[in-house]
Amino acid sequence: MLPDIRKDVFRGLSSPVYRSYHDEYDDKDSSLKRSSSPLSNFLGILRLPRRHTAVAALNTLLLILFFYNLPSIPTFLRSGPSAMAKSNALFSSNPAELTMLPSERQARLIEKARNVSASSPFPKKIWQTWKTIALPDDDNYKFTSSWQKKNPTHEYELLTDATAERYVIDNFNETDPYIVELYRTFPKRILAADLLRYLVVYRSGGLYTDLDTECKMPIDRWMDESLTHLPGVEASDINVVIGMELDVLNRTRWSDDWVRNCGFSQRIQFIQWTIWARPGHEILRRMITSVQETVRADIALTSTKTISALRYTPNDILDRTGPWRWTRVIQRYVDEIEGRTVSIEEFGDIRGARRFGDVLFLSGGRWSPGLAHSGSDQTDSFLAHHFRGSWKGDK
Ligand SMILES: *[C@@H]1O[C@H](CO)[C@@H](O)[C@H](O)[C@H]1NC(C)=O
Ligand SMILES: *[C@@H]1O[C@H](CO)[C@@H](O)[C@H](O)[C@H]1NC(C)=O
Ligand SMILES: *[C@@H]1O[C@H](CO)[C@@H](O)[C@H](O)[C@H]1NC(C)=O
Repeated sequence: MLPDIRKDVFRGLSSPVYRSYHDEYDDKDSSLKRSSSPLSNFLGILRLPRRHTAVAALNTLLLILFFYNLPSIPTFLRSGPSAMAKSNALFSSNPAELTMLPSERQARLIEKARNVSASSPFPKKIWQTWKTIALPDDDNYKFTSSWQKKNPTHEYELLTDATAERYVIDNFNETDPYIVELYRTFPKRILAADLLRYLVVYRSGGLYTDLDTECKMPIDRWMDESLTHLPGVEASDINVVIGMELDVLNRTRWSDDWVRNCGFSQRIQFIQWTIWARPGHEILRRMITSVQETVRADIALTSTKTISALRYTPNDILDRTGPWRWTRVIQRYVDEIEGRTVSIEEFGDIRGARRFGDVLFLSGGRWSPGLAHSGSDQTDSFLAHHFRGSWKGDK
């Protein structure tokens, strides 16, 4: 029980943003499954197991299709699968990358990072999401106005259910209609809320931050404050800023059971309740691609091959769209842009900030102050996250 509460609190699951207010999605197709089709009635009369009949019919069909297409199969093989893939999709893996040498991959990421850096500064824009414009009547949201108050020169946008869907359609339907479909039909809205932040930061850049966060220091000071710890690093070297959510590398102090019971998959974890980046960053593109591919694979394994048939446990959610996958994607990116394997120990005990490639990692205290376990104190915090109470005093 307790670990569940911690996990939920930690993840902001108790935030109404994440509450499944579209629970009806869960059972959307159950009526379909119950209704029996004329075909199944017919098969029932014949007393043939439906599955066997279907397999036999499918095989026959495939055989007919095979012979029918025989003359054109060699051409199909020559043109290859890439000719069939949609070439303009933003969120797809590049098969060529699989065969690249690490040094080639590194060179490519460095070039991409340079392009991102040259094409835009960090946009002065703050993004938050909520289902309607009327904010929830809850003490935890009284902090929202701090973002506008402390950052008067930054544009502020609250995406509601309606405007968020419009945003996703306008920005991605042309290139990646499947992303739009996922966003609209995810059976749990937490999945959509996760996906939305990656889409917004990828396309528009700026600061995404959950509704229950409070600005403690004007955003315009964040970069300089952080770079005082890194002599020689310039703001122009940095394209994305990532906060530490967890840093419990000491196995004596934190057992494997502790880590698992608290809902973590590794001894370090990166924050995804706040993300700050220039637009077009490869980490966001990879994250969205990875979410899309894994959900597609999950759907293919369901009985009805439909998104509404997905049944994700809380850990599945952490893994599919949440911080587990986010952390892995970032680690992989850092390995590639550094051209070596960066061990998780290198993310431990960050004081102020640390840089890998074009990614700036902030100490826990900056974006996640007051976590006793990760040793993050509250001095010099950039922001506070307010679903934190039950973590306090938690050793
Ligand atoms: C970087 O930008 C240039 C100019 O737009 C482009 O030709 C090149 O393909 C980009 N590099 C990468 C790795 O995306
Ligand atoms: C997305 O694009 C497709 C094809 O271009 C179009 O048929 C569809 O209506 C669009 N969807 C939305 C929600 O605009
Ligand atoms: C790990 O934790 C133990 C127990 O709290 C402590 O005695 C030890 O010094 C710690 N090790 C390091 C490297 O901090």
